[in-house]
Amino acid sequence: MQPEPQDIQAAADELRRGGVVAFPTETVYGLGAVAWDARAVAKVFALKGRPAMNPLIVHVADEAMIRRAAKAWPERAAALARAFWPGPLSIVVERAAVIPDIVTAGGTTVCVRMPDHPVVLALIEAVGEPLVGPSANRSGGVSPTAAEHVRRAFPELTVVEGGPCRVGIESTVVRLDEGGIEILRPGVIGVEELSAATGERVRLRGGGDDREAPLQSPGLLSRHYAPRTPVRVVELSQLSDFSRAAVLVQPSGASIFGGESRSAAAAVIQMPSEARAYAAALYDALRRADALNLDEIVIVRPSGPGPAVVWVAIADRIARMCAAAGDGS
Ligand code: TXA
Ligand code: MG
Repeated sequence: MQPEPQDIQAAADELRRGGVVAFPTETVYGLGAVAWDARAVAKVFALKGRPAMNPLIVHVADEAMIRRAAKAWPERAAALARAFWPGPLSIVVERAAVIPDIVTAGGTTVCVRMPDHPVVLALIEAVGEPLVGPSANRSGGVSPTAAEHVRRAFPELTVVEGGPCRVGIESTVVRLDEGGIEILRPGVIGVEELSAATGERVRLRGGGDDREAPLQSPGLLSRHYAPRTPVRVVELSQLSDFSRAAVLVQPSGASIFGGESRSAAAAVIQMPSEARAYAAALYDALRRADALNLDEIVIVRPSGPGPAVVWVAIADRIARMCAAAGDGS
C-alpha cells in the first residue's frame, strides 16, 4: 500500500512544476500544491469548487518551514506543536507576507499542521516546500479516507498511495488568543488533551455564529462533509420503516435489522462500536451508502466505548451532514 521512493520523487517533481497531487495523511487525503505557488493553489480551489473565502491548511515537515509560513511562531504555538505534532492538530497563527493571499483567503492568519503519515512527510521533504492540503473532495462533500475515493472524484490526478487513513476525520483546528485556546473545528484532539498539555483554558467554538466571521473557519459552515443523499439521524428507539434508506448502525442496534421483528431497511451498513474505529469507518460507509442512490441515509445515533472527544468530533460531522442544504458550501 505504500508508494515506492520513485513514486514520491515523481509526485514531488509534479508539485515543483506547479502541479496538483493528492496525498495521504492520518486524517483524510489532501489535495496538495506548493504553498508559495499561487497558480497551483488556484488549481486546487478550482478542482474542489471551493469558495475563495475558505482558507487552506499549510502542511509542513519541519519547524523551519513554519518559520517561513508564519510571521511569528509564539512559544504557545510551539508548545502545542511539541505536544501533538506530527498529528491531527492544525494551528492558526499570524501569516508571513510570502504566503499568497489565495492560501489565507486574504486573511492575516495562516493555519499550519505537521501531518502524522510517513508518505506525506517524505513528499514534503522531497519537494522541499510546504504544501497546501484541503481534503481531496469537492467542496462540501465527504472527505476521502482512501486513495480510491480520491481517484474516483479526480481521475485525472496523481494520487500518492498511503493506505486507509488511520484517524478518518479531519484535524482539530485551533487558534490562540488572550483567553486561551479556541477550537474552531473539533477533531480527535479535544479540550481535555489540549488543556492537559498546555495548562491553557480551552474552549470549543459554539455553533450558530459561523456566518459572522467568514475567515474564522468555514469548515464550521453548517452544511459540510455531506453525501449527495440526504442524511438523517435517529435514536435506536425510533427505528421503523426505512425501506428506501441505507442505515448505518452499530452492533448494539443491529438486532433490529435481523430476525422476525426486522425493520425493513433497503440496506444496512454495519458500524464499529468503539469511537476511534467508528470515526475511521464513517466516511467510507457514507460513500457506500451514497452509491446505493436511495432516498436517504439514516445514521442510528452512535455511542459506545472509546474517548468522549472522538464521539464529540463524530457528532459534529454528523450534525453538519444533516444540516439543511444550501446553508454553506
Ligand atoms: O485533517 C485535515 O486537516 C485535512 C488533511 C488533508 O490535512 N485537511 C483539511 O483541509 O481538512 P480543509 O481545507 O478541508 O479544511 C481546513 C479547515 C477549514 O475549516 C478552514 O476554514 C480552516 O481549516 N482554516 C484554514 N485556514 C484557516 C485560518 N487561517 N483561520 C481559520 N481557519 C482556517
Ligand atoms: Mg474539507
